[in-house]
Amino acid sequence: MIVLGIESTAHTFGIAIFDGKKVRSNIKDVYKTLQGGLIPREMANHHIEVCYELLERALKESELKLKDIDVVSYSASPGIGHSLRIGLLFAKIISEKIKVPLVPVNHCIAHLEVGKYFSEFENPLLLYASGANTQIIAFNNGRYRVFGETLDTGIGNFLDSLGYLLGFGFPGGPKIYEESLKAQNFIKLPYSVKGMDVSFSGILTYIRTRLLNDPSVTKADICYSIQETVYSMLLEVTERAIAHTGIKELVLGGGVAMNKRLQEMSKKLCEDLNIKYFCPEGQYLMDNAGMIAILGYKMYKSGIKMDAKHAYMDPYERTDDVDVTWK
Ligand code: ATP
Ligand code: FE2
Repeated sequence: MIVLGIESTAHTFGIAIFDGKKVRSNIKDVYKTLQGGLIPREMANHHIEVCYELLERALKESELKLKDIDVVSYSASPGIGHSLRIGLLFAKIISEKIKVPLVPVNHCIAHLEVGKYFSEFENPLLLYASGANTQIIAFNNGRYRVFGETLDTGIGNFLDSLGYLLGFGFPGGPKIYEESLKAQNFIKLPYSVKGMDVSFSGILTYIRTRLLNDPSVTKADICYSIQETVYSMLLEVTERAIAHTGIKELVLGGGVAMNKRLQEMSKKLCEDLNIKYFCPEGQYLMDNAGMIAILGYKMYKSGIKMDAKHAYMDPYERTDDVDVTWK
């Protein structure tokens, strides 16, 4: 069985093809701006411009024709409405053209399930750290439950804002990492864990108002201290979720999980707790259609499918809104 996956929750438009054993292609095109944040209308135009070309390339790379596709899965939620709508429409067009069913996939759950698929773990806890999302997720009683999350911005967006303040351009995360390697000192920063949740906006304000104008503080020291502080916050909540749930496996997901320091700290935590650790390769961490195809395959196999007429999108669907009937 061949599944075509479509990712379209934000700036990435992606197409992937998965045959149940192998991801045959996993390609994308990312909407970028020269300056400033994304403009939803322009992002939608970008996705419309690239969708057919990406489809052709994905089929060619997979050595398949459109008629070989059995199912189309698409990211139905959560995300930016303008972007989700293009993915939904493209999925409907393909589904009606070749008369195959659709599978709607929750993007956050796909970040978790892709780690589960490649690690072959039974029941992992996910540390999901991306641009817009920061959540600690585990399966319990029919749904993926959020054990802790950010109370304000996602950690990636926080790092990007900090990068902007430091004059690094977008995305900030990778540049903050590079800069942190030159650091000499650790600066004590606000450490913001509230129960099982974390927050970042106060830390950003502290850096802006207290550190940026201080000539004795280097950018490298800020970057190093930020990483040590915010990744410790994430891992404190992760450790507590592991203690509460008794889960013995941790997987990382989302673009911020590309960070070598976060990977190192997570691995060390797992060694200390004597539990298993897994981080997927980069192409499955950043937004990608491979994870949508992989989860779509699993959901379809369990009997979930939809015709084009009933297909939907939902910008606000939460991880714990979805009944996980495919487990
Ligand atoms: P979601 O909808 O799941 O929130 P997203 O599109 O907002 O996804 P991703 O594509 O998963 O986010 O990740 C993008 C983020 O990852 C950016 O904020 C970027 O700064 C961050 N990032 C990428 N590489 C690194 C790195 N090496 N270290 C830290 N952050 C990184
Ligand atoms: Fe994502």
